[in-house]
Amino acid sequence: MKTLDVVIVGGGMITNDLLLPSVYHLQRTGYVNNIKVCALDSAPLKALKNSKEISEAFPGQDFEAFPPLSEPEDKKFPDLYQEVIASMKPRQMVVVAMPDHLHYPVVIDALKNNQHVLCVKPLVLKYEQAAEIEKIAFEKGLFVGVEYHKRFDRRSLVAKRSYELNQFGEFVMGEAKLVEPYLYRYSNFQNWFTCDRTDPFVYIGCHYVDLVYFITGLKPVEVSVSGVKGKFPNGNEGYLWANGRVRFENNAILSVIDGLGYPDQAAGSNEQNLQMFFEGDNKTGMLKHNDQFRGVEHSYLEGIGCGGSFFNYVSPDFYRLVPWEGNGFKPIGYGPDSVSASITMACQIETEVQDLSLPDSLAKRQEMIRNVDKKGIIATPANSYINELVVEAARISILNDGEIVDIKYGENPHVKLRPKK
Ligand SMILES: NC(=O)c1ccc[n+]([C@@H]2O[C@H](COP(=O)([O-])OP(=O)(O)OC[C@H]3O[C@@H](n4cnc5c(N)ncnc54)[C@H](O)[C@@H]3O)[C@@H](O)[C@H]2O)c1
Repeated sequence: MKTLDVVIVGGGMITNDLLLPSVYHLQRTGYVNNIKVCALDSAPLKALKNSKEISEAFPGQDFEAFPPLSEPEDKKFPDLYQEVIASMKPRQMVVVAMPDHLHYPVVIDALKNNQHVLCVKPLVLKYEQAAEIEKIAFEKGLFVGVEYHKRFDRRSLVAKRSYELNQFGEFVMGEAKLVEPYLYRYSNFQNWFTCDRTDPFVYIGCHYVDLVYFITGLKPVEVSVSGVKGKFPNGNEGYLWANGRVRFENNAILSVIDGLGYPDQAAGSNEQNLQMFFEGDNKTGMLKHNDQFRGVEHSYLEGIGCGGSFFNYVSPDFYRLVPWEGNGFKPIGYGPDSVSASITMACQIETEVQDLSLPDSLAKRQEMIRNVDKKGIIATPANSYINELVVEAARISILNDGEIVDIKYGENPHVKLRPKK
């Protein structure tokens, strides 16, 4: 298998909690070569380097930090990622893990520098940007994966298969919740999670909209989101809660509740679940996923749970470091599975084309990219663009006090605020 160099742009929570450990594991299992992490300043890079959990799990493994740790923490390097990406060999991998509104320039920069991309969700905040990314990537034969890891949760894959086999009937009504811990309000979120940029529906509700689309294949056609504003500890104003309603092309409705407010003292570490009802012939079908309490309860001697809690519902399914046959600990769960699916896909593509002429290589890469798009398991700009339309519609709706925004498909997909009657 061809190994790839990886540059992670963004050194925050998701890099610490999922991306870097997953990439380290891929390095020691023979998919990833050299690893660089680029952040806005040296502070998060120091935290990653000093993480006891990460160094115990991946003994002897390291990454190159940009900016170097010797730089003062208050010195900002907003454009350094451009230099780091420009210095890469062609057709390696850039992992984009910075705040939502910064994904677009970094993904475009990576593609212009001939790099495969894995971007955390949401890929971008506008449909037109997703379409542009898809076009540039396809023309250059570059793979772009979007890290919608809930697609890799086994229960989602089982549900998708059952829906395809018509074991439930047709989706008609659903409810989802994803409420992140209160302590998020004290994190770096307070600097970027402001009303003008994002909201809880866009930040996490999109996971469940994508999931319903993933399971059913139904496209969302109408979005309405109402928010509740509040202040972060630094005084910035953000939507701290949101309630969204999404209508799908067959008239089905999904209601989604999101927030940054699951009690730190509770067993959480957050609240999340999905229930869907389906219409069959003279009967109905249903699925119910409790994505928070997965049947594992731990009560610790010290308050080591999320938010300092002692008693916790522990999910072994998203991301855990566990003992394995090799050195250190191994990341398991649908998070690492999802990261691995995109990075190993790029490795697979590069392995297939390594002995081909440039034109043959491009044709083969394009064919493989189209196959991933069609398969619809890994989210790509081509098979998950409904999310950009939903996000775009949601932003308009929440800023207009929950007015309905329509999504139009066809030649030129777009969103439109529905005129008041
Ligand atoms: N469930 C999920 O899929 C999930 C969970 C968490 C976060 N995310 C996504 O990951 C992204 C990052 O979230 P996070 O929680 O890690 O945020 P964070 O605020 O903890 O970290 C953001 C990082 O971006 C870096 N950054 C900002 N500007 C930069 C620049 N110009 N150049 C280089 N680095 C820069 C900062 O230094 C910081 O390390 C967001 O898009 C978020 O939506 C997804």
